[in-house]
Amino acid sequence: MTVQSQASNPGHICIIMDGNGRWARQRLMPRSFGHRQGVDATRRCVEFFAGAGVDYLTLFAFSSENWKRPEEEVSNLMELFIRSLQRYTDELHEKGLRIRFIGNRDRFADKLRQQIEQTELKTVDNRGMTLIIAANYGGHWDIVNAARELATRVQDGEISIAQIDDRQFASGLALGEVPSPDLFIRTGGEQRISNFLLWQLAYTEFYFCDCLWPDFDDREMQLALDEYHRRQRRYGKTGDQVEVPPGC
Ligand code: FPP
Repeated sequence: MTVQSQASNPGHICIIMDGNGRWARQRLMPRSFGHRQGVDATRRCVEFFAGAGVDYLTLFAFSSENWKRPEEEVSNLMELFIRSLQRYTDELHEKGLRIRFIGNRDRFADKLRQQIEQTELKTVDNRGMTLIIAANYGGHWDIVNAARELATRVQDGEISIAQIDDRQFASGLALGEVPSPDLFIRTGGEQRISNFLLWQLAYTEFYFCDCLWPDFDDREMQLALDEYHRRQRRYGKTGDQVEVPPGC
């Protein structure tokens, strides 16, 4: 009997891109310098995973808790998001990527909201990898929204309480019909999920590395994939049940 490992690359990878600030501080530079380097790492990562045949890549760019950072850092980040979208939308579009955003847009400035809408609209028909950017996103916010949506559908008589199941619930989440992530990566050495895709991470494989986000290069990404390939995904079954005879 052989242990069934993951023969194919993950279909959906989600990443907490952590460590920009520390990367900059180690170089006696302001945190904003780290975020700018973080954009370069993001670009490399999108290219690498699109090339690896990944269907969905979800990146945690700004959490609903990140508003608590110093005002100057928040406004630098917002500016950086606008400039990055202006700079890279055409390039990603030409490569056939679809770009989507999840999170609450209400608090963003009009300029950023408009840029997000433009980017989504431009790439909506693309059939390459879908890049999903979580911005002002929080797992609790997402779950509460889905609960509200279900409650409204029940109130409107569209479905009954008895009809509420996993699938109905998940359809109200920001990722909707997108398959749950196969692999979760967090750089920067912390081992927590920080209110990221709480519902969807139920059976996801977790990979934590010490590498700071600006240093997350092709070698580090390959290490994450190699580790994923070694994992045995059991979904609640026993190891014996998911083992397969050699040659199968
Ligand atoms: C975490 O590092 C990083 C962020 C909160 C911002 C992430 C944003 C980028 C990498 C830019 C990506 C841009 C787009 C358009 C998707 P940290 O500041 O928490 O680092 P620290 O833990 O070392 O302080």
